[in-house]
Amino acid sequence: MALDPSPRLTLHNADCLDVLATLPDASVDAIITDPPYFNARPDHWDRQWPNADAFARWLGDVLDQFARVLRPAGSLYLFASPRMSSRVEGLIGERFRVLNHVVWVKTTGVHQKACRAAQRSYHPQTERIVFAEHYGAEHAAAAAAGYARQCATLRGQVFEPLRAYLDGERQRAGWSGAEIDAAWRAWRGKSGGGMAGHWFGRSQWALPTRENYEWLQRLLNSRTPGVLAAPHAVLAEDYVHLHARYDVLRRDYDTLKAEYAALRRPFQLAAEAPNTDVWIFNPTPARPGRHPCEKPLPLMRHIVRTSTRPGQVVLDAFLGSGSTGVAALEAGCDFIGIEQDAAIFAAARDRLTRRQPST
Ligand SMILES: C[S@@+](CC[C@H](N)C(=O)[O-])C[C@H]1O[C@@H](n2cnc3c(N)ncnc32)[C@H](O)[C@@H]1O
Repeated sequence: MALDPSPRLTLHNADCLDVLATLPDASVDAIITDPPYFNARPDHWDRQWPNADAFARWLGDVLDQFARVLRPAGSLYLFASPRMSSRVEGLIGERFRVLNHVVWVKTTGVHQKACRAAQRSYHPQTERIVFAEHYGAEHAAAAAAGYARQCATLRGQVFEPLRAYLDGERQRAGWSGAEIDAAWRAWRGKSGGGMAGHWFGRSQWALPTRENYEWLQRLLNSRTPGVLAAPHAVLAEDYVHLHARYDVLRRDYDTLKAEYAALRRPFQLAAEAPNTDVWIFNPTPARPGRHPCEKPLPLMRHIVRTSTRPGQVVLDAFLGSGSTGVAALEAGCDFIGIEQDAAIFAAARDRLTRRQPST
């Protein structure tokens, strides 16, 4: 059964493997999901496998589908229990590039009530969230360098006509960059470097200020007065006109930069959001009828806001209470949710179609 109560919300009461097989390749921008943990909970949905190997085989099949449907610049966030998380991370690492193994520290929970005398090991107070992207996609640290390099290249290409004009005029007037720098230092009363590299060079090119440009006009025309008189004067273009050309190119550059930025995996941290791999969020308070693993909305909002852009498609193949969907819809994303249990599905559908956050 597939419900589509709005163009942005698609819910399936089905086994996720059946639905995933129907989704097109590279059709989802973020998979944010919380599969069964394997025998961590008494619920029937967590005890579907005879042993851990069978669970791992099943999860491997799910991850194969995730790898197929996730877009190249997409993000995967997958929750795991502390006990199974290293095995789950290994399975993810066979298909995706793991970026973080996030530790969600729960401020409240049963660990506070545990009987110390009866404990034979430490009580888990955390859940794990493996954050990954496709192999070959830009990796978080390399992305910054790659992005900066790409922007510098774009910048160089877009502003090349202006740079070539300035440099061509310099050559026509017979001045070297070193001579111009020396003259500029003398004019400014400065020691050290100069500006020729910025005005005439390809890397770090910058438009001269009006004051510097008018000085350059005087300088470059000073050696051969008369020979280069108008209309053959060097740098005959007046500054207002030159700056208008620059403004047009600047708009082209900003457009290209924005197009390039849109191709990257989104990752924008809000000022108040955790920026490390240790997250502290209160669990969802207990209440009658609550899904036993309902994820807190602040946590889900943090993931969605950091790793999606409005209009993108978010998938949760293990919908549960629907917290991922609430956060995705709030952020202006399309949402696909899959849940196999009929009663759990009905509750999530009601919550999502009402769009009333319960925490
Ligand atoms: C850990 S819970 C998800 C809880 C959810 N993150 C929330 O905030 O409420 C896992 C859910 O996956 C569902 N499930 C288990 N196996 C499934 C399958 N093969 N296909 C779809 N849903 C499944 C279970 O019924 C359960 O509701």
